[in-house]
Amino acid sequence: MAARIIDGKAIAGMVNEETRCRVRKLAEKGRTPGLAVVLIGDDPASQVYVNSKVRKCAELGIYSDRRVLPVDASMDDVLRLIEELNADPKVNGILVQSPPPPQIDEERVIAAIDPDKDVDCFHERNVGKLLIGKTDGFRPCTPYGVLVLLEKSGVDPAGKHAVVIGRSNIVGKPLAAMLMQKAKGANATVTVVHSGTPDIAKFTRDADILIAAIGKPQFVTGDMIKPGAVVIDVGINRIPDPATGKNRLVGDVNFSEAVEVASAITPVPGGVGPMTIAILMSNAVTACERRIRRA
Ligand code: GUN
Repeated sequence: MAARIIDGKAIAGMVNEETRCRVRKLAEKGRTPGLAVVLIGDDPASQVYVNSKVRKCAELGIYSDRRVLPVDASMDDVLRLIEELNADPKVNGILVQSPPPPQIDEERVIAAIDPDKDVDCFHERNVGKLLIGKTDGFRPCTPYGVLVLLEKSGVDPAGKHAVVIGRSNIVGKPLAAMLMQKAKGANATVTVVHSGTPDIAKFTRDADILIAAIGKPQFVTGDMIKPGAVVIDVGINRIPDPATGKNRLVGDVNFSEAVEVASAITPVPGGVGPMTIAILMSNAVTACERRIRRA
């Protein structure tokens, strides 16, 4: 029997509706949440992501400040801009689109962002809080989007074996940290497999919840999935489509095989993607709400 499709667009729509309500409440107090989106260089994929973040801000009533630095910008240029945005009271959240050009030391850039404006949850202070289960930092956009997808589709990770494929700082590591917390919507037994794991399938076949975030098109095949597992596909890969001669988007999971084995699965596009941006918007509003409380 084919798996139930977890509709990320619909669930992101619910999160966005909650965000819109919170923005309205802030407006009653005369406040507008603000997000700065920084793009260094002219990478076409990054431009698309940045534009969609700016568009979503407009849709939800969030002020956005789009800053584009040239591809040859220096570290000083970037750090000066971060300093300016840290000091700007209209800006509650700062996002620097990753990856930056090679001359830019991303770690130093992240370290320079005011942790209270670190809506990506990339700053080591917020990553540390996440790991020890403190809730007064931020929750990273894609991993938290995955948790919300599970929750809103009635999948409780508690007591389940969650296998995460991939150990990136953006997805795999924080997602594993979140899933293992002794907290509602988590409390899973977590295994992380990665490029250094000799037999990945040995672990994935035991997963009740399988999360693919490895950046390899259609890496997870049907035979790597336990029948009835919940499969979450974080991958966004562009591959040539011989039928049209153009590129098409695929995830890290071979969807047509997986859909026959899993009990529930996220599609690509329309699964995790819309959640990432919905959580980013929510985080920007959280940053604004906290600033008001601190004032
Ligand atoms: N590049 C890919 N994903 C992300 C993200 O979540 N945040 C930022 N800043 N850059 C990214």
